[in-house]
Amino acid sequence: MSASTATSTAARRAAGPGGVSERDRTVRPATTKAALAVEFAGLGRTFAPSSGTVAFGAARPVLRDVSLTVRPGEVLAILGTSGCGKSTLLRIAGGLDSPSTGSVQIDGTPSTAFDTRCAVGFQEPRLLPWRTVAANVSLGLPRGTAREAGRARVAELLELVGLTAFAGHRPAAISGGMAQRASLARALARNPGVLLLDEPFGALDALTRLKMQDLLLDVHAAAPTTVLLVTHDVDEALQLADRIILLGQEPATTGAAQAVGGATTPGATIVQELTVPGNRPRDRGSAELAELRGRLLAGLGIDRHGEARGVASNTGIPHFPY
Ligand SMILES: Nc1ncnc2c1ncn2[C@@H]1O[C@H](COP(=O)(O)OP(=O)(O)OP(=O)(O)O)[C@@H](O)[C@H]1O
Ligand SMILES: [Mg+2]
Repeated sequence: MSASTATSTAARRAAGPGGVSERDRTVRPATTKAALAVEFAGLGRTFAPSSGTVAFGAARPVLRDVSLTVRPGEVLAILGTSGCGKSTLLRIAGGLDSPSTGSVQIDGTPSTAFDTRCAVGFQEPRLLPWRTVAANVSLGLPRGTAREAGRARVAELLELVGLTAFAGHRPAAISGGMAQRASLARALARNPGVLLLDEPFGALDALTRLKMQDLLLDVHAAAPTTVLLVTHDVDEALQLADRIILLGQEPATTGAAQAVGGATTPGATIVQELTVPGNRPRDRGSAELAELRGRLLAGLGIDRHGEARGVASNTGIPHFPY
């Protein structure tokens, strides 16, 4: 994505019913921390046995041997079947969980608990219903931000996501897309060096989702932070990412497990990694992207004609990506 100042059309594209009127304006480069590198080295996560697991009594490897360096300012999309460990990887990057083996480093130092260099955006906006949109966004400001500076920053972010006119509204009085934009603004309020997004547009309708993708492109152009984006949507990944990784299980290579047809090594790792060609916004109909889409869908267990084959899951029970 170009790091140059972007003329934003996203805010007006993203304006919901009664939203911000059509206008041209320039997204000012937000004051941001430098984008930071994220490095996973031999990372694994095994969960202790609990009554919630299928194989009761057995520790369950969810991730294994994940090694990857995400460059400062890069947008990395993470794909994988449901339950393969995408959120777990993101949580570990943000210091919300710890690896069982290996490490994750941000800007060359280990990720710490609730690492303040990262901000997280979730599938649900998670706004506090009793606070206004502006007050919700202000919750993301770094601790100790002076009142006036905070107010100016919130105003800047609301402008960036096209919500200036809704600053005083409560979450119940705005649409789902607007709430998601407020949530994105709250995450950006921290000036994160790394933005961790876990299916941020997953709960939105198709049209709003496309608008939010445009908005994310504009936001990244204005403040090119490093982005780790978990998504189930192959086209979204192809539109937004510089690089895409697919998490999944590899065929078993050892003794007893190998003897069982189709057996896999427990724990997901990176089974595909590809660089997406072309500058954004990309032509959704290009032959090049179609070829990559086919490869990714095949990796997710979807045949060309769209039939899910059923992919082995961490629990050993085949499941489907969508
Ligand atoms: N704290 C935990 N304790 C035990 N098991 C956990 C814990 N967190 C996650 N898991 C398990 O790890 C596996 C991976 O979970 P995760 O949420 O990372 O999957 P995911 O790829 O994000 O799935 P989805 O696409 O459905 O969101 C799941 O089987 C889940 O039950
Ligand atoms: Mg998840």
